[in-house]
Amino acid sequence: MELVSGMMDGSLSYELTHRREPVVSGSGVQREVKFELTDVPLFEGCSERQLRNIASITRLVDAPPGTVITRVGEPGNEFYLILDGTVSVDVPAGKPVALRPGEFFGEMSLLDGALRSATVVTDTPVRFLVVDREHFSFFRREVPDFSQTLLVTLSRRVRHAEQRADPMGAAPATG
Ligand code: CMP
Repeated sequence: MELVSGMMDGSLSYELTHRREPVVSGSGVQREVKFELTDVPLFEGCSERQLRNIASITRLVDAPPGTVITRVGEPGNEFYLILDGTVSVDVPAGKPVALRPGEFFGEMSLLDGALRSATVVTDTPVRFLVVDREHFSFFRREVPDFSQTLLVTLSRRVRHAEQRADPMGAAPATG
């Protein structure tokens, strides 16, 4: 798994691994996580059943500032939704892109199976909701309109990449 292999090469701290919290283990944990899930705008349209299903396939991960979450050119098997804090996406060309709570990353490698397209580092203490590759299709089906959100986000990322490559030629992304 990516976070564990990161830990072995020193990119993740000992503290982080001890702060990883499994989501599905006992009703107390489930209640706490479900409460948090209802606070996430992405899950606004979810039924109780969908929230339970999402809680059963996701886990919370806390990372201190400066943690490398994905590294460009490495394989990737996890999708990250930011619940709290900010990360910097260090794209191969151009300035880093900041992502905030409610935004996500890591979808590209899960969708096309290719290596990570960018290095993502935490700027602050960050709390993520993490989905493993094996559960990503199920997650997409359980979250209403998520496939549409993914398509719009990917379109914006392509436009931004095109703008960086050719500032005069590409139409600007809106929103
Ligand atoms: P992935 O390639 O799996 O891992 C790195 C992630 O960085 C990538 O998925 C996207 O989620 C994210 N990413 C890549 N390029 C951009 C960009 N231009 N703007 C925002 N996020 C990006």
